[in-house]
Amino acid sequence: MPLTARRVIPIHVTARLPVTVRSALVEGKTLDGLGRPLRDLRISLTDRCNFRCTYCMPKDVFNRDYQYLAREQILSFEEIERLASAAVSLGVEKIRLTGGEPLLRKGIEVLVGRLSQLRTPDGGPVDVTMTTNGSLLARKAAALRDAGMTRITVSLDALDQHTFSAMSGSDSKVEAVLDGIETARQLGFSPVKVNTVVRRGVNEDQIIPIVQRFKGTGVTPRFIEFMDVGSTNHWELREVIPSTELVRRIGQVFPLAPSGARPGRSTSRTFDFLDGSGRIGFISSVTEPFCADCSRLRLTADGRLFTCLFGAETLDVRAALRNGDDDLAGILRSVWHERTDRYSELRGESGAPGTERHAEMSLLGG
Ligand code: GTP
Ligand code: 5AD
Ligand code: SF4
Ligand code: SF4
Repeated sequence: MPLTARRVIPIHVTARLPVTVRSALVEGKTLDGLGRPLRDLRISLTDRCNFRCTYCMPKDVFNRDYQYLAREQILSFEEIERLASAAVSLGVEKIRLTGGEPLLRKGIEVLVGRLSQLRTPDGGPVDVTMTTNGSLLARKAAALRDAGMTRITVSLDALDQHTFSAMSGSDSKVEAVLDGIETARQLGFSPVKVNTVVRRGVNEDQIIPIVQRFKGTGVTPRFIEFMDVGSTNHWELREVIPSTELVRRIGQVFPLAPSGARPGRSTSRTFDFLDGSGRIGFISSVTEPFCADCSRLRLTADGRLFTCLFGAETLDVRAALRNGDDDLAGILRSVWHERTDRYSELRGESGAPGTERHAEMSLLGG
């Protein structure tokens, strides 16, 4: 289905659900077609970014002619808050703000403050966090913390300026990102995670320096297998370094022990340094898919819902938000019930990426 198509899902589908799913609903869980609960909401705040990472927004596509979303298409903070509140009523406990680059959105701390006030049905707090490229973090971190954010993830693919510029496609200084990470750490964000996408032959020589740089600082680096997300990043399997290989290479320099099984819902598997100086993580969506416990719903900046990073859009919810539809929770529940996505597992089984066109990472926010 083309990404522009609008497939409106019937709202009242619960009556058709299998008995097991309906009974789980009664227990307060919102389960999808494979029995997975809705727990995480990723909200993209903008499709724009001040970087042009080769694996996400390659310059040949994201150039002057690229059609970004227009201002009026983008959801307001009030609209986002209403949607998020409905999601929380269905079991969402974690909200991650993404982009493009979320810190480009003016006044973002106001949204963080509002989302941090949300409470789960049993009165618990909602974890509001963010994945950022870090270039504006040093000046924004205090406002984010004051608004209620307690943990944060920063993307950083290299310490060496030359490799950093090549990977990020920007003139930004790696020092600015390092400053952002250090500022967040000093302000008490915990954990501060660093996401490093690894491309064979491009930044693999940066892995050991990154581990060394953050070891013992409380910052957790996570190495991500380059994914075939979107349809413009020229993905090739030969550029993916399997996490098992990285664990071996890092372990030869800094002895490691697995921290335990990958916690359910988590994207990463973690290892501890044997000398007790910290932890590192690996996100292995290509070689070890984690669809079995995927609990993530995605909202784009212009109000479209995606239930898989590699899936087709399931619903455009902006009209419902703007028409004052008061059953947003019903809409979200229906979307989630219909979901049977497990793209990475299927790609693993078939050995090749699907041929359908995927939405871009900069729209979906990862
Ligand atoms: P934590 O809360 O720290 O576990 O964050 P996270 O790993 O869920 O989010 P983050 O934005 O840091 O994403 C890390 C990497 O995992 C990025 O490359 C994302 O694109 C990827 N990722 C996140 N969620 C999914 C998912 O549901 N499926 C796949 N295949 N990749 C995902
Ligand atoms: N493969 C793996 N990770 C990616 N990210 C962006 N594009 C890709 C890709 N093709 C990561 C970013 C960021 C997170 C949201 O997704 O580096 O850390
Ligand atoms: Fe921007 Fe993040 Fe995409 Fe890089 S990965 S281009 S920083 S949105
Ligand atoms: Fe979830 Fe789709 Fe990622 Fe699998 S590929 S973990 S179903 S978002």
